[in-house]
Amino acid sequence: MRADRLTQTMLDLGPAFIKVGQVLSTRPDIVPPTYVESLSSLQDEVPEETGGDPFTVVEAELGDTLDLETVTPIAGGSLAYVYTAEYGGEQIALKVRRPDLAAMIERDLRVIRRLIPLITFFADDRQRYSLENAANDFEEIIRDELDFEREAAVMDEIGTNFAADDRVVIPETYPALCSARIVAMEYVEGTKITDSNALERAGVGETEMATLITRTYLRMGLVDGVFHADPHPGNLAVTDTGQLVIYDYGMSQRLTSQEQADIAALYRTLVRRDVDGLVDALIALEVLDATVDRVAVRRALDLVIETLEGQSEITWRAIITELFTMLHDFPFRIPPNVMLLVRVGTVGEGVCRSLDPKFDFLATTQSFLIDHGFIESELEALFEDIRDDVRQSAPIVAGLPAQVNTVFGQLERGELVVRTESVEPTTIDSGLGYAVLSSAFVLAAALLSFQSTLDAAIAFVVSIVFLLMYVRG
Ligand SMILES: Nc1ncnc2c1ncn2[C@@H]1O[C@H](COP(=O)(O)OP(=O)(O)O)[C@@H](O)[C@H]1O
Ligand SMILES: [Mg+2]
Repeated sequence: MRADRLTQTMLDLGPAFIKVGQVLSTRPDIVPPTYVESLSSLQDEVPEETGGDPFTVVEAELGDTLDLETVTPIAGGSLAYVYTAEYGGEQIALKVRRPDLAAMIERDLRVIRRLIPLITFFADDRQRYSLENAANDFEEIIRDELDFEREAAVMDEIGTNFAADDRVVIPETYPALCSARIVAMEYVEGTKITDSNALERAGVGETEMATLITRTYLRMGLVDGVFHADPHPGNLAVTDTGQLVIYDYGMSQRLTSQEQADIAALYRTLVRRDVDGLVDALIALEVLDATVDRVAVRRALDLVIETLEGQSEITWRAIITELFTMLHDFPFRIPPNVMLLVRVGTVGEGVCRSLDPKFDFLATTQSFLIDHGFIESELEALFEDIRDDVRQSAPIVAGLPAQVNTVFGQLERGELVVRTESVEPTTIDSGLGYAVLSSAFVLAAALLSFQSTLDAAIAFVVSIVFLLMYVRG
């Protein structure tokens, strides 16, 4: 199958491409379903020998500090190995970057950079905007993930933010042992979050855990502004006492308070079917270019909402797919923070639904946003509107009936919103606030550009792959 061949090619090409494949596997908005399935296997299958043996890094950096006899591998991924070791009588975990990786990735990135002009040559004007940003975003994401000092700093920061929350565990770091290639941290024993026996042993219900996960991610993104952007089941665990453990902060992002506000605005406008406000929010988040044809975008967004309303069950994934399919005709891009939002939403929703197939991710998001004052409940919003109307109309008693009409109009729209609750969650994802990964990669861009014509996409991907082999060969 072509999808499997693409996956194998990514494996053959090396770490930067494996990363790209992993990213693509969480982007149902860009990649056709069969590809998503095949690329998902990249999450687990990583050639052991790529990038060198991380144990040599432990020897070089911590040979004098640790008893190397106690250093035991427990997990291996495309970028790093995780070991346990004894240190000062404690069991610690060491996440160690593969030694030759940085150079390999720099080389891959150079290749990708050289391909950009070629790809933009094939793209039409509308797509150029997306494409030119995509490669830069990808570079940013992958460089961040290689930077273990950044990873340790983010862990410390998120750990501090959750210090008072005993339901969530973020391993503490050992700064004296950390370096650009090593994250040394407390060893926290946990069982994979999707293991239903573990949840049962700990006395935590599936829905309860799914709710905790959703609210934890929303809090990181929208309240604290630093979030873990990679909530796949391999990075989430449950302790014997039912706490949620979050590992792996390589993919993490920050949101400014302005971005948090823009994301909340996105949600609010969506809930209220305020398409004009939605366009503004998308422009503020730099998803749409400020010069975009507003009338045409409005029409497209109306259609998105209509399509979603017609679906019996609305998921984040469905919203993203609809939204991006429609926006595809406009100069749109997915900046890294929005990409992370998309990713956290899609991956997080997937985890929650594998815990509880009926879990309503969007409803949970909505109640979080209301609890934290990001959006008013529909009722409050209605009263707020009435107050405004009354204030405006008070001096003109004659005008009152018209105001009342307006309010009824809003009420009707409000009811509509209630029926289409799931639409709101779209914004939510954004709310999740995450950010990173995105886009970027050339293949993603290529698939995106030709989404409508799968064969063209495949031909294009294959030609890139050949070109890459040629350039690198
Ligand atoms: N502090 C820790 N305590 C216990 N296990 C850990 C710790 N950190 C990582 N692990 C284990 O190692 C695995 C891989 O670590 P992770 O940080 O996710 O690396 P990768 O980037 O390779 O996915 C995790 O899924 C988890 O099982
Ligand atoms: Mg991981």
